[in-house]
Amino acid sequence: MAIFLVQSDLKEQIHRKTDQFYDDVISGLKSTPKRLNSKYFYDANGDKLFQELMNCPEYYPTSCEIEILSEKTADICEAIVADGDDFDLIELGAGDATKSTFLLKYLLKQKVDFTYLPIDISDNVISYLNITLPVTLPGLKITGLNGEYFDMLEKAAALSDKRKVVLFLGSNIGNMPISDAIAFCKELRKHLNEGDMVLIGMDLKKNPATVLAAYNDKGGITKRFNLNLLERINRELNADFDLTNFEHYPTYDPETGACKSYLVSIKDQQVTINGKEKIQFLKDEYIYMEISQKFSVAQTEHMATKAGFKPVNRFFDSKNWFLDAVWIAE
Ligand code: AVJ
Repeated sequence: MAIFLVQSDLKEQIHRKTDQFYDDVISGLKSTPKRLNSKYFYDANGDKLFQELMNCPEYYPTSCEIEILSEKTADICEAIVADGDDFDLIELGAGDATKSTFLLKYLLKQKVDFTYLPIDISDNVISYLNITLPVTLPGLKITGLNGEYFDMLEKAAALSDKRKVVLFLGSNIGNMPISDAIAFCKELRKHLNEGDMVLIGMDLKKNPATVLAAYNDKGGITKRFNLNLLERINRELNADFDLTNFEHYPTYDPETGACKSYLVSIKDQQVTINGKEKIQFLKDEYIYMEISQKFSVAQTEHMATKAGFKPVNRFFDSKNWFLDAVWIAE
């Protein structure tokens, strides 16, 4: 009986998720210009492609941030342990937790008392972390949370009243235009108390050719990463996108720091979703897929202040391409 209940709960949850995905896809493809939300890139296949991307030579943000977290581990941990109170270490968009593992290992070695609460939109990622991390990091207290950031932050807050340290690495904040990013940080601040902290990774402005190359890798992984969302729509929402009819078009504007990617229709075509929704594409019409915003250091601090945080520490890689900043909630 209990098992049936759990199964039907799970089914309902899956239904709700699919409905939301469907609604977002339809409204995005019916708007002008057409757009899709990059948060939907991360199904099991998208997770795999992003892993591949992180290993490809042009995609510098991951190696820069790994350099920071692996070479400045002690300083970063000192900054977040601060007064020594027990805390919950919450990670937004944990992925495979490669980067945070540098911190987790160090904190465990120092016998710091904390619980790790990774949050991810991918259920695939969360079940993987729940199973593997306690094995690779003996003694780690972990509670993985699968869902949207703020829903899960509320869940995390309800689990304990300990001080919170939030990891938001990988320049995931760049997946929003700056005004939305500020609104996001304000919302994050609302979910925290004074004295809580954020360790936030942000990709910095740099030579425009370097940025563009990272989103236009020669191996074509970024292209497959974008096309995978169409494939996901085909599979999960019963659509008939022909992937060979779309081209990957990445752009970078050094003035605004906005790196955007599009899929461009190479001909007039019609796509049917779920047997009833017909979407028309003109030749050369695009779908706006993703923004990966690049920041100046001043912009990151402006963002912090606007949202009610005080920037207290900055950690850079040796090329000054990436910033992991510690902010404290005021
Ligand atoms: C995971 C959102 C940080 O924007 O750089 C990588 C995703 N997109 N290549 C980024 C991504 C294309 C990535 N983030």
